[in-house]
Amino acid sequence: MFTSNRTVAIGEAMIEMAVVGEGTYERSFAGDTFNTAWHMAQLLGPDFPVGFATKVGSDTISTSFAEELEANGMDIACIARDADCTMGLYMIELDGVERHFHYWRNHSAARLLADDAAWLDRVTRDAGLIHVSGITLAILSPDGRARLWDALAQARLRGARVSFDPNVRPRLWTSVTETRDTLAWFFEITDVALPSFDDEAALWGDASPDATLKRFAQAGIPEIVLKNGAGAVLACANGAKISVPTPPVSDIRDTSGAGDAFNAGYLAARLSAMDQADAIPWGQRVSSRVIRHFGARLPKERVPKFE
Ligand SMILES: Nc1ncnc2c1ncn2[C@@H]1O[C@H](COP(=O)(O)OP(=O)(O)O)[C@@H](O)[C@H]1O
Ligand SMILES: [Mg+2]
Repeated sequence: MFTSNRTVAIGEAMIEMAVVGEGTYERSFAGDTFNTAWHMAQLLGPDFPVGFATKVGSDTISTSFAEELEANGMDIACIARDADCTMGLYMIELDGVERHFHYWRNHSAARLLADDAAWLDRVTRDAGLIHVSGITLAILSPDGRARLWDALAQARLRGARVSFDPNVRPRLWTSVTETRDTLAWFFEITDVALPSFDDEAALWGDASPDATLKRFAQAGIPEIVLKNGAGAVLACANGAKISVPTPPVSDIRDTSGAGDAFNAGYLAARLSAMDQADAIPWGQRVSSRVIRHFGARLPKERVPKFE
């Protein structure tokens, strides 16, 4: 059902500086499509190569990023370098238990990732699954979005499937109209949609998860998985609708990255030829572990393994 075992996720990873003590920060790397790709690589192992396609700087932190991916079993051939830009950065500060995020990402190298059509063609060429998100689109110029759209459309003609998490972040867009128009345009080339109900209700005014599912189905998307926090996952594959209750999770510490981790579990299971009903619990399993930890990525040894 997939033309190749290879996955490529396209998007931005940022440097994360999370406060761990008075004026002391721990450095990590995070970003929605990156979090998904990283968990997929840990879940699937070497028989299913996972690449992350992005643009970083030429500095030593960007080199550390690529080295960390390689050490974690990921394919780094799709990481482009820019001589003039650096990776974006964000800091997490704590105010009691409230987390505050401060971003420096307006001029990150990742914003230029779709400037080169030949590079986009190369990184998508032998992928069976290509994963992108609304954040990937939000950071690109209008021309960059058009080049990415074309590359994905070409890849689909060669048999690749495209998964898309709209991950709506209003701060990254200039208007509601621009957001809606761009997302709807990419629905045209989406095979697997992975939205979250809160995001969708805020952007489109959907009255219920059912209304969201219906809207995606009407856009012609054959496979849809709608996440809804602690609520049931509502999904549809080729017209057959299912609802899968989410097992309760105790001791939740930090819900950031829940949706990205869900996507990883679900997509890895689908690549391993599980059907939708069997793949959803894998999404729930990986995300339930992520929300019991601080940070958007699990410690490597905590990623569940396929039997
Ligand atoms: N409060 C919660 N209780 C149990 N599971 C949760 C909770 N919040 C998130 N999850 C798990 O994480 C998945 C994604 O969460 P959700 O909040 O819908 O996505 P996002 O992080 O994209 O907003 C859910 O489908 C569920 O499996
Ligand atoms: Mg999300």
